[in-house]
Amino acid sequence: MILVTGGAGFIGANFVLDWLAQSDEPVINLDKLTYAGNLNNLASLRDDPRHVFVKGDIGDTALVASLLATHQPRALLHFAAESHVDRSILGPAAFIETNVNGTFALLEAVRAYWGGLPEADKSAFRFLHVSTDEVYGTLGPDDAPFTETTAYAPNSPYSASKAASDHLVRAYHHTYGLPTLTTNCSNNYGPYHFPEKLIPLIITNARAGKALPIYGDGQQVRDWLYVSDHCAAIRRVLAAGRLGETYNIGGWNEMANLDVVHTLCDILDVLDPKERSPLREAVGRGMDASYRDQITTVTDRPGHDRRYAIDAGKIERELGWKPAETFETGIRKTVQWYLDHQEWVRDVHSGDYLKWVEKQYGR
Ligand code: NAD
Ligand code: DAU
Repeated sequence: MILVTGGAGFIGANFVLDWLAQSDEPVINLDKLTYAGNLNNLASLRDDPRHVFVKGDIGDTALVASLLATHQPRALLHFAAESHVDRSILGPAAFIETNVNGTFALLEAVRAYWGGLPEADKSAFRFLHVSTDEVYGTLGPDDAPFTETTAYAPNSPYSASKAASDHLVRAYHHTYGLPTLTTNCSNNYGPYHFPEKLIPLIITNARAGKALPIYGDGQQVRDWLYVSDHCAAIRRVLAAGRLGETYNIGGWNEMANLDVVHTLCDILDVLDPKERSPLREAVGRGMDASYRDQITTVTDRPGHDRRYAIDAGKIERELGWKPAETFETGIRKTVQWYLDHQEWVRDVHSGDYLKWVEKQYGR
């Protein structure tokens, strides 16, 4: 079996669902259920004996040690993290606690477990660390995309904490021989994406008739990847990645934020026109019929990275992975998913979420 951390969050939940759709190998899922963790993401596994959910902190060494000893996983896939850049700007402490100290505690527990395994299990074991392209910092408009040898230059408390965790993982391989793999991925989107992040925030705000906030001039560029493509890449790295290596994962799909938001509005205009939605009365009272009219410019994110771009050539050459979805196909599926899962959206829009919106956009 495998042990997954953070499997109730956006990417972790997609990974667990995809894993169990493709294999019968059981998953132990350790998640603290912070504001970003949501067991509704895993509702389809409620009666599935292949999925064992454990509520707990990756920093709880005794708990992790006992899970490892009891279940004897052949691999640990580490998704758990504080993941939202804006939250890291307003309150960096939780990012250091989970992303740095938590990863350190996890590595220590795994090192002790792995050290005691019989030789064959020891060499088969894998620690796969899920990280981000943000560790490389920001690019100018004509710079080449990030490769695995680009120097680390993190700019936000979030990316600095992820960079620190990447360095710890690297050191545990170099010093102790722990069989590690690290992936650095670009911006994901798709089902179960928490609506504090750009794409789900725009979809849910648009449908609620609210403002669509664009930071600064909206010309910041991100490289978008559909989440199931990220999950497939992780499975491939786990199966065949070279020990101690890092692999960049991306969609070869750079887009400016404003273009992403325009695309979302245009898809919503077709799939959920305001005249046929709960906003029809507002349209009758003079609201513009296009969702684009709700776009509003707001104060920029402090230290906002201008451009990310991933060169995903290494994983394609060495492991034969490349994305299956284009942005056009993936984004349409994503909008449709949100239209089809309004109860999930309603549940997520809890009191805590509203407090965040007030704190971040209240100004
Ligand atoms: P998320 O915020 O949606 O989910 C994080 C999950 O980790 C939640 O379920 C949360 O409850 C859990 N968690 C947080 N602290 C924990 C702790 N101390 N112990 C146990 N569980 C804890 O994040 P995500 O977007 O799914 O990202 C998953 C991983 O992928 C992160 O490591 C992130 O840095 C990385 N990543 C994300 C993206 C992206 O676009 N979202 C891109 C590249 C890499
Ligand atoms: O690049 C990978 C990273 O992508 C991951 O490591 C992070 O966990 C993930 O959150 C994401 O970080 P970003 O900061 O790029 O994602 P976010 O969705 O927060 O923002 C995307 C872009 O949109 C960014 O340039 C900021 C901008 N933005 C975001 C929000 C929430 C807006 O213009 N308005 C908004 O309201």
